Amino acid sequence: MKGLFQDIRHTVRVLVQRQQYAHVDFNASPTTPYSLLARTLPWLLQLSVFFTAFGYFVFKYQTVATDRACTSRLFSYSPVIEAGVIQYASYNIAGEFAHPSVYRGRPTNDTEAAWKELFVGIMHRPLKLYVIVLKLNPQAPGINVPREKLPLLNKSSTVSWLRTPETKGDGYVGYLEVFHQLHCLHMVRLKIYQKEYEEEFGHPARQFGPEDAAVTATHIDHCLETLRLNMMCTADVTPVMIAQDDTAPLGRHVDFNTMHKCRNFWDIREWVDQNKVVD
Ligand SMILES: *[C@@H]1O[C@H](CO)[C@@H](O)[C@H](O)[C@H]1NC(C)=O
Ligand SMILES: *[C@@H]1O[C@H](CO)[C@@H](O)[C@H](O)[C@H]1NC(C)=O
Repeated sequence: MKGLFQDIRHTVRVLVQRQQYAHVDFNASPTTPYSLLARTLPWLLQLSVFFTAFGYFVFKYQTVATDRACTSRLFSYSPVIEAGVIQYASYNIAGEFAHPSVYRGRPTNDTEAAWKELFVGIMHRPLKLYVIVLKLNPQAPGINVPREKLPLLNKSSTVSWLRTPETKGDGYVGYLEVFHQLHCLHMVRLKIYQKEYEEEFGHPARQFGPEDAAVTATHIDHCLETLRLNMMCTADVTPVMIAQDDTAPLGRHVDFNTMHKCRNFWDIREWVDQNKVVD
């Protein structure tokens, strides 16, 4: 019995001591590691959910904002960029040597309609008459350039630029370079196919009619120069690869299907049609 009581007394003392130490421990460190984890785990989970959601929206917003921000930063001002119309897509452009295309070859109703669709109404007349034609009968889909944007285009406000009607923005009329360039390419093309054009349609292309003869040569020359300047300005640095090919005459052929990051031309075209201030 004595032994048993001693045992119990010993056990109680140990327990009391433990409690005392626990009490001391408790004072020293307000929470044990287990309770700290248990208390903070729900918070950590909530925070991680929050930051995941936050990160997702930041990422999503940034991808949209970055393309537009980069475009504004890397290219001259345009209402089209400001409107957020420009998007990019990467794909191989179909540039094969003999790739069929409605824009290629001898002029027909189809080729001419396809070409005109690229730049409808843009400067149908030779350069010297262009301003007059625009004033008398504006046909090209010009868009509004707000007045305060002139400095961004490095244009003086002392020049009397063609004005946009007050109801349509009250700025200045602007045409997009892409349409001018396509028009120019078309002019050069018509020059090359001049004979075939007359055979097909029974008359010269109107850009090459007798009334415009005096300025036609200069116009073609201007167009070639425009294209040269723009190509050098853009300086497309996409690598063009050469495939070894035993069946090809030189034992190799150039792969003109080059990967490009392209703008959405047809959306731009449509936006201009919808936002034109003269037509
Ligand atoms: C081309 O269009 C004109 C005018 O619409 C038409 O008279 C002519 O038959 C067409 N030519 C061909 C080959 O379809
Ligand atoms: C801005 O335009 C003026 C006059 O046309 C020209 O002299 C000047 O070089 C242009 N500035 C820039 C940065 O191109």
